Amino acid sequence: VLTMDDVLKRARPVLPVLVIEDAGLAVDLARALYAGGIEVLEVTLRTPRALEALAAIRQALPELLVGAGTVIHAGQFREAQEAGAQFAVSPGCTERLADAADAVGMPWLPGVMTPSEVLFAIEKGYRSLKLFPANGEASVKMLKSFKEPFSGIRFCPTGGITADNLLTFLRLPNVACVGGTWIAPSSLVRARAWDQIAQRAAEACALAAS
Ligand code: 3PG
Repeated sequence: VLTMDDVLKRARPVLPVLVIEDAGLAVDLARALYAGGIEVLEVTLRTPRALEALAAIRQALPELLVGAGTVIHAGQFREAQEAGAQFAVSPGCTERLADAADAVGMPWLPGVMTPSEVLFAIEKGYRSLKLFPANGEASVKMLKSFKEPFSGIRFCPTGGITADNLLTFLRLPNVACVGGTWIAPSSLVRARAWDQIAQRAAEACALAAS
């Protein structure tokens, strides 16, 4: 069985957060990221064609792990699973979302921001958490403070990550990987700048390996 911990391990260093407007570009985008060394993608359910895009990537590139992001309504877990999503990501963690994640049996990365939210997620049985939003140096400090009280909990900081602060997060022992849109921003996708996207992915991977 695939766990969220497995997903985050394969996602290291970066889980690209994708906002796909044109489902017809999804497979080319995923190919570019894969060429750059990325094995795990998050397709956010923020656009009308997101599920279609997710399904297309899943079908064309079985070597990738594909998840649904911005899951904010319970019903979206089932929709995402039916489209082929292998995991789900949410910006927060509520009772209702946790129950829905349980019901579909899909690995889920709930979002947290505060110690009480971390405790709520732990009580629900989650040990891999999205830290959202990641606010630069302040979040680096917070994650350092989380290390002792929340031992064994692994974080994926997302929201505000760029090539410039990627390493300060990845160096923290409780950071599994980081997430973000900077690898494949909508502007580059719209421009079909596949080489540039592959290069951003490769640069992030190289930086993390250095
Ligand atoms: C997310 O949904 O995880 C965030 O919107 C990504 O934030 P970013 O655009 O700052 O990477």
